[in-house]
This record gives sequence, structure tokens and C-alpha cells, in this order.
Amino acid sequence: MSAFQHQKGSLHCEDVPLEAIAKTHGTPTYVYSREAIESAFLAYQTALADRPHLICYAVKANSNLAVLNVLAGLGAGFDVVSAGELERVIAAGGAADKVVFSGVGKTRQEMQSALEHGIRCFNVESESELLALAEVAEQSGHIAPISVRVNPDVDAGTHPYISTGLRENKFGVDAGTARRLYQVAREQPALNAVGIDCHIGSQILDIAPFLESLDCLLSLIDGLAADGINLQHLDIGGGLGVSYEASAPAISDYMAVLSERLGSRGLELILEPGRSIVALAGALITTVQYLKPSEAKNFAIVDAAMNDLLRPSLYNAWQDIQAVTPREGKSLDWDIVGPICETGDFLGKDRTLALSEGDLLAVMGSGAYGFAMASNYNTRPRAAEVLVSGDSAQLIGKRESLNDLWQREIIPENLAR
Ligand code: LLP
Repeated sequence: MSAFQHQKGSLHCEDVPLEAIAKTHGTPTYVYSREAIESAFLAYQTALADRPHLICYAVKANSNLAVLNVLAGLGAGFDVVSAGELERVIAAGGAADKVVFSGVGKTRQEMQSALEHGIRCFNVESESELLALAEVAEQSGHIAPISVRVNPDVDAGTHPYISTGLRENKFGVDAGTARRLYQVAREQPALNAVGIDCHIGSQILDIAPFLESLDCLLSLIDGLAADGINLQHLDIGGGLGVSYEASAPAISDYMAVLSERLGSRGLELILEPGRSIVALAGALITTVQYLKPSEAKNFAIVDAAMNDLLRPSLYNAWQDIQAVTPREGKSLDWDIVGPICETGDFLGKDRTLALSEGDLLAVMGSGAYGFAMASNYNTRPRAAEVLVSGDSAQLIGKRESLNDLWQREIIPENLAR
């Protein structure tokens, strides 16, 4: 059941009316359902109960400390892509030894900090990175646990900006290079090869490309075993899509298929899901400021914009937009747009709604890559964030104040000529 339901004519998150949240915290505000986050995470856990596994939530999808804390409480591991994300995980009560560190451009400082925290694994993406890590680990007296990210060259059938498993993408190394890198790692006393990984993209609505990648990794694992290199885990990455519009496979179905293909292998299975845990648990609520109907187009200008939710502008992504309190009256087709000075600033196009100025709208499916990608473009403060659990709604992210926005800026003395 969806975390967002109309009750008595008004959209609620769990048992809290969104109207009440808007009244208390203003708009634009992100609202997340704790129950929805937990049940998506538990769908992975439960389906894999019979085999060794670790679900490393991809922090980039929604990195609010309270969200991370909820997941840490369920025993989640975390997939991070920067020292900043690692520090967030620690600040939120997550365990460093359940963290995998992905990304093509880890700096030496980031490696050092991750080694000091004692993370679970570095997902290495190139030979240069492997050698840099060996050096940093050796100099600081650590042994770095590593996995090589394989680019299996499969077409995930998703948006080109978020497809990562094709040969021409910057991520990972091809299978032949991966096999060689494990030999290189074996020669390095400060490296310990513990796993293998891949991540082929995001918002993937078909299970077949995941299986293709799994087969690629399994055959590499067998080849490496023949070379005398025995790995303990296989990390299949994140990427399962959600039903923004077209329907997505259920987490349990995906897990069942993976599990079947892994058969009796004793490998630990690691996953790095982000979107499928938080996307549908969140909505962005916004107020209609002005209606601007015209012969060519009807615009509803709202108080949220591309700086709050970038996905529609950046990927032409479609997310459902609902009236929080649907009204009687004539529906028109509206483009729901923000106040930012760009034609690309829209949250949705051609949405059939009966609207009046002052109405509240909810942009559904905004829990992943929503607030996390927000910016201060046009000197707009970032939105508030609220976590709902049952009938309680708690502020988990304060709306930025204008003063916050230029705190870090400096007018040097003598700047004026
Ligand atoms: N692991 C790695 C190494 C990743 O790069 C990503 C996402 C994930 C896991 C999590 O993937 P998920 O389960 O969330 O699909 N901003 C885009 C999505 C970018 C995804 C980047 N990498 C969007 O709003 O659609």
C-alpha cells in the first residue's frame, strides 16, 4: 500500500494530512514516510534471509541523517561515494565496517579517511586508483579491502545520463582488465581482494540486464578462482527502478531471481539500492502561487523549482503531481513550473488538474534524488524536510535561511578600488 493516500478528501502521508505539514512548516517541503522506507528495505532483507547478504543503501539517493539513522537501525550497510557521505553515515549512527566506497575519483585524502574508519570495501574503478590506494594504505600501515568494479557492457535500457554499464561509460573496467587487476592487487602487500562489483545504471525496469551482469561476474569469479584468487562477496550494485509511471518489478521478484541464479554458491551478496528504498516514500509539497492561463499554454507557477527538484529538468523525468485537496470545478491542462529564470524550470507538463491560486500540490516519488540534488540556484534556500511515522510528523531538515546562503562568502578588504 502506498504511504500517500487520500483520506476524507485530502492527501495524507501515513496518518498525517499534508495540509497540516504545510501549515506548520511552510512550502516547499519534502515529506517522507518512515514506514515506506522501512518496508522497502525489509523487502530486500526478507527476500535474502536464507543467504549471506548485506544491503548497502546508496546514500546519494537521500542522505538526510534521520533517513540514514532509520536504515542503520535496521542493520543497513551503506554505499558511499565521497568522504562527506562516509562522515554522514558515521554521524547518523551507521557502522563503518558495513560501508562500501564507490566512485571513479576517490582522492587520496578520501582513501586515507576511509581506511582510518575501517570501511568494508573499496570498489576500485581503474588501475591508477588501485595503485594509489595501495600506496596510501601502505604509507599509513593499513590493509585496504578491495573489489574491482566490472563494466559488463550491458544495456540497462535507461536514460543515457544514468546508464553506467556500457563500454563507453566512464565506470569500471572490462572483464579482461578486471582479471588482470586482481593479479596486480595480489602483488601489493597493502591490498586484500575480498570481492567483485558492478553497477549498470539506475531506474532499470527490467531484471534481464541485472542477470546478464551477474553471469558476467560469476564467470569472472570462476576464472579468478582458477588463478588462485578466491573472493568472498559479489556486489551487484543498485539500480532497480520504481513505478513513477511504468510499472517496475517488485524487489522480492528481483531478489528471487538473483538468488536462484546464485544457487548454492556461498558468496555473500551485496546490493547498493538507493532509489527503490526511498523514492516512493517521499513527496515534495508546493503551493500554487499564480495561475497564468493563455491561448498557447496554461502555466501554474508554484513555489518549488528546479533547484528543489531537478529530475524533471535534467532527465525530462515524469513524476506524478497530485492536488493535496482535490477541488470540484473544471480541469485544465497545466504546466507546473517554478519561479526560476529558465524555460527548463518545470516540475511537470500537461497535467490535468482543477486548480486555484493557493492550492497545495504534491510531487510524488520525490524521496530519491530530490533533496539530495537540490541547489541554491537563484539564491533560493533549500526546502524543509519532514519525516512522518504514523500520526507524528517531525522536522528532520530545517529550511535554509537567506543568511545561511552567503555565510561562506567573503568580501575581501580593499576589494573596492
Ligand atoms: N551504486 C552506485 C555505484 C551508483 O552509482 C548508484 C547510483 C547506486 C548504487 C544507486 O542506484 P539506484 O538504486 O538509486 O538506482 N540522479 C539520478 C540517478 C543517479 C544514480 C547514480 N548512481 C536520478 O535522479 O534519476
